[in-house]
Amino acid sequence: MLNRSDHATLPNLILAGMMGTGKSALGRQLAHRWQRAFIDTDDLVEKLGGASIADIFAQQGEEHFRALERKVIEELIPASGAIIACGGGLVVPEGMADLVKTKGVVITLFASVDTIIRRTANTSRRPLLKGDDPEVKIRELMKKREKAYMSAGIAVYTDGRTVQQLCLNIERVYEREVFRIKQDAARKLKED
Ligand code: S3P
Repeated sequence: MLNRSDHATLPNLILAGMMGTGKSALGRQLAHRWQRAFIDTDDLVEKLGGASIADIFAQQGEEHFRALERKVIEELIPASGAIIACGGGLVVPEGMADLVKTKGVVITLFASVDTIIRRTANTSRRPLLKGDDPEVKIRELMKKREKAYMSAGIAVYTDGRTVQQLCLNIERVYEREVFRIKQDAARKLKED
């Protein structure tokens, strides 16, 4: 693992992906292992909006919620050192995936529809899944968002793998990316 004393200056690790793919659970676990701050954009949106996600959606609508998410990424997350779990739709609107990429190493988590259904039984913070048939909604959203998720970050598939295995996998991907970023920076310095 990367040197702990470096952590505050290392790029953020940003976890994107559909609801129920494990962003928050894995982000928390990694933050604990690496002793870094964990940030959930849903928490910051609620703080910024002064209301719960359910109320923001119900009273001001999804567009307002997405504007708050953009503001969180633009203004509220730290420049480095943190592990950030993004709300499931955050990277979807035009320009958001590119914006998020400027804030750290982005990994997109994927899971099968069955796994997502199982993991999203609690819909209090997920108004988009409310209603009689969450499965239909999940399938619709996945179809609409698949491209955005694929291009937002490096894909990691979570089905059938333990938290421990996934942490190691994400750790490796992150270290490889940090190494690449450092090499690119050194190369640029040489060229200048
Ligand atoms: C959303 C996902 C939720 C939350 C909101 C909208 C989405 O976050 O931001 O309900 O559009 O996919 P999680 O992915 O953490 O459940």
